[in-house]
Amino acid sequence: MNQNPNRYTITAALPYTNGPVHIGHLAGVYVPADIYARYQRLQNKDVAFICGSDEHGVPITIKAKKEGITPQEVVNKYHGIIKKSFEDFGISFDNYSRTSAEIHHKTASEFFKKLYEDGKFTEEVTEQLYDEEANQFLADRYITGTCPKCGYEEAYGDQCEKCGSSLNATDLINPKSAISGNVPILKETKHWFLPLNEYEDFLKQWILVDHKKDWKTNVYGQCKSWIDDGLRPRAVTRDLDWGIPVPVKGAEGKVLYVWFDAPIGYISSTKEWAAREGKNWEDYWKDEKTKMLHFIGKDNIVFHCIIFPAMLKAEGSYILPENVPANEFLNLEGNKISTSKNWAVWLHEYLEDFPNQQDVLRYTLTANAPETKDNDFTWADFQARNNNELVAIFGNFINRVLVLTDKYYEGVVPEPSTFSEVDEHTLKELKAYPAVIASSLERYRFREAQGELMNVARLGNKYLADEEPWKTIKTDEERTKTVMYVALQIASALAVLSEPFLPFTSDKLKNMLNFQGLKIQPTWKSVAVLSHPSGEMPLGRGGHKIGKAELLFSKIEDEQIQQQLDKLEKTKMDNTADNKQVPSTEEASEEIASAAIASQKETIQYEDFVKLDMRVGTIIEAEKMPKADKLLVLKVDTGIDIRTIVSGIAQSFTAEEIIGKKVTVLVNLAPRKLRGVESQGMILMTEDINGKLVFMNPDASDVDNGATIN
Ligand code: MF3
Ligand code: ZN
Repeated sequence: MNQNPNRYTITAALPYTNGPVHIGHLAGVYVPADIYARYQRLQNKDVAFICGSDEHGVPITIKAKKEGITPQEVVNKYHGIIKKSFEDFGISFDNYSRTSAEIHHKTASEFFKKLYEDGKFTEEVTEQLYDEEANQFLADRYITGTCPKCGYEEAYGDQCEKCGSSLNATDLINPKSAISGNVPILKETKHWFLPLNEYEDFLKQWILVDHKKDWKTNVYGQCKSWIDDGLRPRAVTRDLDWGIPVPVKGAEGKVLYVWFDAPIGYISSTKEWAAREGKNWEDYWKDEKTKMLHFIGKDNIVFHCIIFPAMLKAEGSYILPENVPANEFLNLEGNKISTSKNWAVWLHEYLEDFPNQQDVLRYTLTANAPETKDNDFTWADFQARNNNELVAIFGNFINRVLVLTDKYYEGVVPEPSTFSEVDEHTLKELKAYPAVIASSLERYRFREAQGELMNVARLGNKYLADEEPWKTIKTDEERTKTVMYVALQIASALAVLSEPFLPFTSDKLKNMLNFQGLKIQPTWKSVAVLSHPSGEMPLGRGGHKIGKAELLFSKIEDEQIQQQLDKLEKTKMDNTADNKQVPSTEEASEEIASAAIASQKETIQYEDFVKLDMRVGTIIEAEKMPKADKLLVLKVDTGIDIRTIVSGIAQSFTAEEIIGKKVTVLVNLAPRKLRGVESQGMILMTEDINGKLVFMNPDASDVDNGATIN
């Protein structure tokens, strides 16, 4: 194992360009990867932090079809949005490429050709699923069906997102075309397979023995179960027209499987960067002394731990990753993040709504990082983290130090006199932090590391509160100078140590402390070896002129949070009005993640429950809302009255078939207008396993309208 390497290749999963990036992606992959890359750069390591857009694969063609544009137009649009939002958010990629780039097509083709020529593939004519209506073979997300491992009914042709199994399309029970909804037929076609079974011994040794101790338990556990299940040959080509053409004779109309080409994108992106920077890309991919790490979300584990390593091994000249620190998922306000339901906080929208507050989101996502289990993002927590931690602890300390230095010494760092025991003790504690934070980071414990960073600010606050320079200034000038000197050293340590986590704040703070004016730049190391009284402290021995205090963090007001909550509430309403329907086939592929059982919501009290007034009612009239294909306007007898309710169920039911139906109605929901008609309540529904709506109706026919539900 690579104990103390000098060179790091750090990759972050290439995002699919079928939509923008949201907080789930950030918390799972990009923020931790960025913290790690920045940290290693601060250790003077040679870092290549690599990413790019994943522009092939079925999700892109599905999106193109849905929007009536070409796949290239889809990827151009989202590549632009994603790239810019990463930059604006301070994700410090050394290179952000894209898999439609020429260098990538070339690199992936050559990789395939090499394996082909070395006889690493098996070539097989097999029967594959084919949609006769669409005239095309169905693979990956073009097909859904029941997972043979866990019974989940919406598994994809290449993966079940419920249990994580990697599948072949023909494994699915009751397969269904995602294009037409038809039952596919079997048709012969030729493909190239990577015989994963031949890599079983290698994978067993490499993962189950060599990395038993240092990989995260979630990653190790998933790998072990796949290996224990037995590995099978996996097709690496597809019958599709969007992707990288298979570069061998007799493969016309076939492209590389997206999960074959995408991870090679890390290599192409490194090549692009190296060519620009005058480096040798092979140092980052072929030198045993380089430490390679893949930052990913948990749904990518099999591809990065089994398939890609087997590809690299087959090729023969590449190194393998040292670690694959995969995270679990982040939920939003108690519900699974969903692109198609628009249940997300989109990065590009956050950057507009909270200008210059990148660090607040970075901080919150790290503080709640889904490192060992799924976690929840709430706007209330975001506000509290900002107001009670960033403002009240970090910002408050810095502000006091700068304001007092300005007031007492016109912004010049004072000369200290003798250090008291408390000073010595405080400085000793301070010195220990670089190693403490580093140790957490080296073990990919980002939230723990950030917690320690905040402890530096807490140390500063406690020191000021105990030593009270605002009091001693009246009685003991020398003592005050020493205290302010120590406090300024803590502030400069914060400027250095916060860089990986809060890069914008760190920059501001360095300016405020006028780091540019120092002869020797404070570093991670110099904070760790703070020594005195020889004058080696980060801010020097005294006499250094610092700048003016600026506000590092500002309070986030309730209104701002309410706006975000309103936005989500609107999404929810749109979803109940419009989307509570059989998901369209195009959407089916995206729906899957949210189709899994939703996690339990926050606990409520009995008093909260009794606020809901739910009654048995009967639908007595129903008609279609003009010019709205999802809405029905109902008249419902609630026992209390006969009222109008607009319900988004027109795609599951005709008006005729529901007249006379007994239903459950939430009668005290605030009325709201839908297409100009006031809706006075809500009919309770659920969805069956196929996504069709089902009334929550009492099956006892002798329950009267108006009966309460409790
Ligand atoms: N696009 C994939 C996803 O978003 C990740 C691809 S990672 C790579 O889940 F290794 F293939 F690049
Ligand atoms: Zn499954």
